[in-house]
Amino acid sequence: MSGWLTARVVQNRHWTESLFSLRAEGVQLGFQAGQFVRIALDVGGERVARAFSFVNPPDDPLLEFYGVIVPQGPLSPRLARLNAGDALYVARNPAGFLVLSEVPDAETLWLIATGTGLAPFLSIVRTEAPWRRFRNVVVVHAVRWAKELAYRDTIAATPAKYVSFVSREAAPGSLAGRIPAAIADGRLEAAAGVPLVPETSHVMLCGNPDMLKDVQAQLAARGMKKHRRRARGHITVESFW
Ligand SMILES: Cc1cc2nc3c(=O)[nH]c(=O)nc-3n(C[C@H](O)[C@H](O)[C@H](O)COP(=O)(O)OP(=O)(O)OC[C@H]3O[C@@H](n4cnc5c(N)ncnc54)[C@H](O)[C@@H]3O)c2cc1C
Ligand SMILES: NC(=O)c1ccc[n+]([C@@H]2O[C@H](COP(=O)([O-])OP(=O)(O)OC[C@H]3O[C@@H](n4cnc5c(N)ncnc54)[C@H](OP(=O)(O)O)[C@@H]3O)[C@@H](O)[C@H]2O)c1
Repeated sequence: MSGWLTARVVQNRHWTESLFSLRAEGVQLGFQAGQFVRIALDVGGERVARAFSFVNPPDDPLLEFYGVIVPQGPLSPRLARLNAGDALYVARNPAGFLVLSEVPDAETLWLIATGTGLAPFLSIVRTEAPWRRFRNVVVVHAVRWAKELAYRDTIAATPAKYVSFVSREAAPGSLAGRIPAAIADGRLEAAAGVPLVPETSHVMLCGNPDMLKDVQAQLAARGMKKHRRRARGHITVESFW
């Protein structure tokens, strides 16, 4: 049995010149919201595969992936050029621990992302579990430019609180600068309207590895530490590179 399934692209939406969302049909996979799967194309006779988080919730038969073009990257520029009807190879084995089944109960769930790191949280907020388990769910999305604040309608259709950051231009309605600084000076909590403290919070982080490091340093200063199955903590992390 081949390790790869073949999906067909049904839509490739371009949000900006570098951000795209691929939807594909024809592959059914069991996965948990927050997980990723390897997707691939054949390039010069070789199959080039990369991990992508599911944007769709598990019960949606259309697969959806949210990507950014890394100009020199082997795969992402090619994914961005796919059209409806093109083949997309999908591995059979979704994986990953950025899932609510690995998260202990808390009053407030913080879902903090940079760039396309928003993808797994879009899947999570479109399942039932967060609304059953947490009094507050806060989605925090940081991007360079305001036009990169993708999927706002999707998030607005859920009960989640939404806080956005735009780091490279002034953008009404979004916080300026980076997430770690806004944790340090209290602007993030003020914008969300809920405290970010170990007694009541669990934080899931996804995206740029430098952001993950800098946010974890801020959270450590508040007495929060990584969650492990055998040692309860407050932080669950997935790095995109
Ligand atoms: C668990 C996991 C889940 C992932 N999910 C997604 C996803 O849902 N969407 C997505 O776009 N990417 C995701 N990625 C990254 C993805 O696997 C690829 O690395 C990315 O698409 C670029 O592929 P590439 O072959 O063009 O370049 P690569 O050779 O893979 O990457 C080259 C460089 O580009 C930068 N880079 C890679 N990915 C990103 C990114 N997403 N945002 C900003 N800079 C980046 C890094 O500096 C990296 O070293 C995920 C990675 C992991 C490990
Ligand atoms: N976004 C674009 O305009 C664009 C265009 C074409 C290609 N790309 C490709 O995509 C890659 C970057 O993609 P991206 O813009 O989605 O992701 P990114 O570089 O990770 O930036 C996303 C957000 O994360 C912030 N950030 C970066 N480091 C951080 C840290 N240590 N702590 C907290 N926040 C931090 C950025 O702030 P800062 O702005 O302060 O860094 C920005 O607000 C580039 O390497 C490039 O290859 C991007």
